[in-house]
Amino acid sequence: MRSEFLPFHIPSIGDEEVAEVIKVLRSGWLTTGPRVHDFEDAFAHYIGRPHAIAVNSCTAALHLALDAIGLSENDEVLIPTMTFAATAEVVLYFKARPVLIDCESDTLNIDPAGVEKAITPRTRAVIPVHYAGHACDMARIAEIARIHRLKLIEDAAHALPAVYKRQMVGTFGDLACFSFYATKTLCTGEGGMVVTANPEYADNVRMMSLHGITKDAWKRYSAEGSWYYEISRPGFKYNMTDIAAAIGLVQLSKCDRMWRARRRIAEIYNEALRELDQVLAPITRGDVEHAWHLYPLRLDLQRLRISRAEFIMMMREQNIGTSVHFIPLHLHPFYREKYQYQRQDFPNAVAAYESLVSLPIYPAMTEGDAMDVVAVVRDIIRRNLR
Ligand SMILES: Cc1ncc(COP(=O)(O)O)c(C=O)c1O
Repeated sequence: MRSEFLPFHIPSIGDEEVAEVIKVLRSGWLTTGPRVHDFEDAFAHYIGRPHAIAVNSCTAALHLALDAIGLSENDEVLIPTMTFAATAEVVLYFKARPVLIDCESDTLNIDPAGVEKAITPRTRAVIPVHYAGHACDMARIAEIARIHRLKLIEDAAHALPAVYKRQMVGTFGDLACFSFYATKTLCTGEGGMVVTANPEYADNVRMMSLHGITKDAWKRYSAEGSWYYEISRPGFKYNMTDIAAAIGLVQLSKCDRMWRARRRIAEIYNEALRELDQVLAPITRGDVEHAWHLYPLRLDLQRLRISRAEFIMMMREQNIGTSVHFIPLHLHPFYREKYQYQRQDFPNAVAAYESLVSLPIYPAMTEGDAMDVVAVVRDIIRRNLR
């Protein structure tokens, strides 16, 4: 047994991030300014989209993306039930309806057939979530969106840097939203980014991210700017600070290296866990590069004497932190009661949920850490065979 606890996640923050933050703190400019602009440029270049707008969370990014497409009251937006609260709640900000869709049984991504079936005259948009960092079936989803004239917004909170058919995730939708939350593959503490190829969407997102004002504070207060500004629409306070952007710039420069380190952990898990009949390791389709934000393992509870909750407790007792992604939205009281969802309305999501355990996967882990996780999983299974 490990003598030290292995947390579910530790962010990879090094001396460089610390030094860059100190520089910003000493610069006299703390909020949205030159570092945010540099981060946006670098991120747009990395993803391969002309416009990137930095905000203070992916939730804000999703909200602004829906504002940019002009979502209105009573519109419907198709989203997976297998996601985090944020994907659905932003739809409710507009008094529109998030219509939940089941997942594919293998990737746990939104099921394109389910998307197609749920379309009504009120459907305005679809938000596929690249679950755990595995790209959705974007060929089919983009085709459905095109045929039915739906806006396509990628929730890429898990998916930096994921690739689908040799194309970066984040370049398929009308807009795409990334998260830089503390546990994400690029972290700034809190943060997010909207990317788009549409200049009007980009202008709208930028304006609404800062009170609906047509000029940002940096331009207003810098020597070349002016004091004059206009409010076009009541907006939000979603701008990113230069402190966060300074972290983001360093993190982006390490993004590929951090991805390779996570992939190495995934390879160790895959190799060891695929031998075990009592668990199902996550799959990667042939046309996908997985971002490996999460490693969602599924337990075959028919072959075990313990529940998923007991499995998690035993992992904890043996000093391994785990988590569960996600409790499907339709099982939560709000969605269940408001829309009268039944547990079995989304059988794939429910079956997956009951058996899911996310194992630790992050660049700060050593190969030895990953082997320890495997050893503990094996040990718990061996002792609890049905
Ligand atoms: C799929 C998904 N979308 C959106 C978000 C929201 O991200 P943020 O915390 O940056 O607002 C999360 C957060 O975990 C997420 O998992």
